[in-house]
Formats: sequence, C-alpha cells, structure tokens
Amino acid sequence: MRTLTFDNGDQMPILGLGTWKSAPGEVYEAVLEAIKIGYRHIDCAYIYGNENEVGDAIQEAIKTGLVAREDLWITSKLWNSFHKKEDVEEGMNRSLKALKLDYLDLYLIHWPVAMKSRIDLPSSGADFISLEEIPLIETWNELIELKKTGKIKHIGVSNFSKSKIEEITKLSGIKPEMNQFERHAYNQQPELVDYCLSEGIKVTCYSPLGSADRPARVKRDDEPALLQNEKVKAIAETNGISVAQALIAWTIAKGLVVIPKSTNPERLKQNLDSKDITLSTEDIATIDSLDLGHRYIDGQFWAQEGSPYTVESIWS
Ligand SMILES: NC(=O)c1ccc[n+]([C@@H]2O[C@H](COP(=O)([O-])OP(=O)(O)OC[C@H]3O[C@@H](n4cnc5c(N)ncnc54)[C@H](OP(=O)(O)O)[C@@H]3O)[C@@H](O)[C@H]2O)c1
Repeated sequence: MRTLTFDNGDQMPILGLGTWKSAPGEVYEAVLEAIKIGYRHIDCAYIYGNENEVGDAIQEAIKTGLVAREDLWITSKLWNSFHKKEDVEEGMNRSLKALKLDYLDLYLIHWPVAMKSRIDLPSSGADFISLEEIPLIETWNELIELKKTGKIKHIGVSNFSKSKIEEITKLSGIKPEMNQFERHAYNQQPELVDYCLSEGIKVTCYSPLGSADRPARVKRDDEPALLQNEKVKAIAETNGISVAQALIAWTIAKGLVVIPKSTNPERLKQNLDSKDITLSTEDIATIDSLDLGHRYIDGQFWAQEGSPYTVESIWS
C-alpha cells in the first residue's frame, strides 16, 4: 500500500477505512474484516459513537496476531464540546479509552466549531460557543501540548479553511500536519488542496463516494448522486472496475489520502483493491472536469437559529 511520510518518518497508508455511520453492532465485524483483508488505517471520531466497538475489533486483531499495533494507523478527532483548554485532554482520553489504545497516530480538531461541554449534537443555537469565546488557538495549543506526551503522534485539523490554518499557525508557530475535509469529484477544492500541499500539510479526503448514507439532518433531497455519474460509470465500464473504485483510484492518483466508509465485506474489498488501479491520464482528466463545487456536508447544521456560526463563517 502506498504511504505518505511524515517529518519524523512515520508512514500513513494512503487508503483508510471511514467509520462514520458504521453502526455499533456492525462496525466490529467491518473493522475486523477490513484488517483481515489488509486495511491498516482506520478513521475514527468520538462523535461517531462507535469507537468502543472499533477498539474491540482492533484489540481482537492484535490479540489474534493478525496485526501489531505499530502496523496500524489510527486517526481520531476532538469533538466540538471539548474545545476548552481544560477539556481537550478529556476529549482525547475518551477516544483512547474507547479505542483501547495507548496512543493515536493522528488527532484532529474535528470542526472549527465550539459547543458547550457535554453536548454531543446541538439541539438549539444556545448549545454553541463562539470562536471569540474559545478561539481555535486555545484548542490547537492544547493539541500541541498533548503531542509532547506521546499520546498523539501527529496533530491536525478537519474542515479548516486556509485562513483558519494560517491563524493557528501564526499564533502557535506550529502548522497542522493534516487537514481532513470533503473532497471528491463534485467538490474538488483545488485552492485548498494546493494551499495545504504547498505548506507541507497533508490532505485527507472525506466522503469520497458522496456519502449517500448520511442522516437526514445533514442531507438534502435534491443533491447530485456521485455514484450515478454517467462519465464515471463509463470509465468504470471501460476499465472493468466499479464506479467507487474509479473515484478512489482517482483520489489516490493525486497523492491524497482517501477514507471510503463501508461495512459490507464485498465493498470493503472492492474499495481496498482500488489501491492497485491506475487510471489513464484521460480518465483522470475526465473526472477532474466534473467539479461542481458541491458540498454534501455544507455546514448548515452548525448555523441553526441563534448559533454564532454561519455557513459562510465556517468555510471562510
Ligand atoms: N472530518 C469530518 O468532518 C468528516 C465528515 C464526513 C466523513 N468523514 C470520514 O470520512 C469517511 C467517509 O465518508 P462518508 O462516510 O461520509 O461517505 P463515503 O465514504 O463517501 O460513502 C459511504 C457510502 O458509500 C457506500 N459505499 C461504500 N463503498 C461502496 C462501493 N464500493 N460501492 C457502492 N457504494 C459504496 C457505503 O455503503 P456500505 O457501508 O453499505 O457499503 C455508504 O453508504 C467517514 O466514514 C468518516 O470516517 C469525516
């Protein structure tokens, strides 16, 4: 598997397994199966509500000798309600405990959005805290400190714009090592990708297949269906691969990390096999031409009435 190399030599597998929406009850089998067939990178988060089961599967894989801890790359993310300086370590510890790990390979600030302590999902605008009250630098500085403890090997951000990355970098003198954001054929974000790569910040692309299984609160009826795109279907047919494989191979061809989610054994295998698919220059150019600037996860959820956040403020 192709890997990306961090400054200290650590290698991150370019293809990982997404676990958002992977239900407790099925995620254990999915993660174990994924490790059995060769996945070595799992993308997790406190808010996915399934880190306990993911951790059980990792432990089982280690216990039965399928894999050693050091051969796995485990990413997790600090949830919005742990942004306060004194809460950041607790946020990290909860993920470590649930995953049953001594350290995370990568820990990200999940969103540039702060919420009151103990709130998982906001039920009203009153559940939010503005970035004036808890600036991102407060949270970022804590991640920098936690990295020194060795409990986190690498630190980064998710859903951060160029200006937010510049702000925390300027104030701390330390750049995020990773920015994880939505990037796929319909939302290619070339400026953000170029900015990150030019600064030596690695990019992880989430929702690479269009995230069709999202809950209604973050979904729209009229959204375009990425897996139904006729041009990608034609590429898939010509190459004897699936549409999902074409989209994953296209992302890997750009040198970007990709984390498709599946809990289905056949699709887990199909997605993993994408690492060995090389698309032609023409096929890559065809997929490049499909950009609609369409975000499936548009940030509207954080901009509910009474919230200090607007969709524009999240992405700017
Ligand atoms: N940082 C963030 O804010 C953020 C936001 C969103 C996502 N993420 C991360 O990125 C991961 C991936 O994104 P995502 O879960 O939103 O969506 P995604 O990976 O784009 O799409 C997942 C959907 O595609 C289906 N699927 C998977 N493989 C397929 C295949 N080969 N053919 C057809 N359908 C296939 C899955 O169904 P089955 O499971 O039934 O196969 C599921 O319905 C997440 O799980 C999470 O780890 C991070």
